[in-house]
Amino acid sequence: MSQHIFVLTGAGVSAESGLGTFRDKSGEGIWAKFDPMKLATPQGFERDPRTVLAFYDARRRNLLGARPNPAHFALARLEQALAARGGRLTLVTQNIDDLHERAGSREVVHMHGELLKARCQSCETVQVWPRDLTVDDACPECDHVGALRPDVVWFGEFPLHLDDIDHALRHADLFVAIGTSGAVYPAAGFVAEARAQGVPTCEINLEAADNAFLFDDARYGPASEIVPAWVEELLET
Ligand code: OAD
Repeated sequence: MSQHIFVLTGAGVSAESGLGTFRDKSGEGIWAKFDPMKLATPQGFERDPRTVLAFYDARRRNLLGARPNPAHFALARLEQALAARGGRLTLVTQNIDDLHERAGSREVVHMHGELLKARCQSCETVQVWPRDLTVDDACPECDHVGALRPDVVWFGEFPLHLDDIDHALRHADLFVAIGTSGAVYPAAGFVAEARAQGVPTCEINLEAADNAFLFDDARYGPASEIVPAWVEELLET
């Protein structure tokens, strides 16, 4: 059995918890209904902070009412089982929700930030922020009013923890991407990096990702069914 497994998750792992995905072939994704250039860029926020904050308020409220699904629980189980055998799971997520943590995952690398945190653009302090965020809110640290923004990565900004991710990718025995369309870089490029290191790669997805040809193995279907079955199989070997 592989000792160090690197798992990259995307919106598909949380889809069955009701959080929606960004792009799907039926045209129902979040970015088919909302303009990411207006809602997920620093320029969009500068132009119209109220609209951007309202978009994230709605997503935060939705998240607070959501629950982890069997895919999240299976990955938490995998982390514990690997640790008990002297191995490890590196769980990197593009998701800004906290459903992996609520399912029991202890170490989650949020490369696109976290919806339940706010960052002050004045003093750079990051705060836990589980409620609506408005332009009238003051930073609890520096008292600056109107400088708080969701602690999420927008288009044109650098994802977080890339050095740690690169290190983990170079030391993994297996790379698995779950519920991600392979459309957004740098995450979409991790599979190629893993391959370059000779690491076997596997895709778990509802439908083939844009970069599906880079994976050695693929399992298609809903994450809530495929992920628990894959974890079960892995732990039996
Ligand atoms: P996408 O919405 O691009 O892709 C979701 C993937 O999940 C697709 O491949 C779907 O086929 C798959 N999927 C849908 N339902 C599923 C289910 N029940 N089980 C398994 N798979 C399912 O989401 P991401 O790839 O995560 O970034 O998107 C990457 C980034 O683009 C996001 O982090 C976000 C977005 O713009 C930022 O906002 C910076």
